[in-house]
Amino acid sequence: MLRELWAERDPRVPPHRRIDADGHPTVAELEDSIRTNQPSSIGLLAVERKAAHDVIGYCGLIDAGRGSEGAPELAFELLRRVWRQGYATEASLAVLDWARSSGHERLWATVWEWNTASRRVLAKVGFTETERKEVDAVYGTTLFTTRRL
Ligand SMILES: CC(C)(COP(=O)(O)OP(=O)(O)OC[C@H]1O[C@@H](n2cnc3c(N)ncnc32)[C@H](O)[C@@H]1OP(=O)(O)O)[C@@H](O)C(=O)NCCC(=O)NCCS
Repeated sequence: MLRELWAERDPRVPPHRRIDADGHPTVAELEDSIRTNQPSSIGLLAVERKAAHDVIGYCGLIDAGRGSEGAPELAFELLRRVWRQGYATEASLAVLDWARSSGHERLWATVWEWNTASRRVLAKVGFTETERKEVDAVYGTTLFTTRRL
């Protein structure tokens, strides 16, 4: 599923997050990275549909590391074939509960300015856009959004 996500990423996503000309990351490399990055109070979780039992993407918390005062960052990505059915919103709300119960008091989320769907999901689950932005001449502007828990 992760390999498929990587393969279908928008061409505006920077190349280091897309499959390279030699086919990396491979399924084995992605598998290895899952095994070595087990979730604790942060981490990416598989989004599984209860009825179909299929994994359709991930949603979780990543170490922000972008000067976000130690608060983790919400992240999500789903396969294109399941977009626009409310799954990212539902998964994000579950992750917000998890974050709260782990003792986190604030989350951040960064999003490309052009990413309308993701901005809409973040707004629906209570994130607000801050003044902070990072402008990249090639890939565009990253917006910083935040939510208290
Ligand atoms: C962002 C993403 C996870 C959204 O998943 P999803 O399950 O489709 O999200 P939801 O169905 O919960 O909500 C999507 C909202 O965006 C809206 N939307 C989707 N595409 C849109 C578009 N092109 N223009 C305007 N609104 C759009 C939907 O109408 C919906 O809002 P609504 O409930 O008010 O109608 C999915 O598009 C994705 O995986 N994108 C690629 C990865 C990515 O961008 N990750 C986030 C990085 S910050």
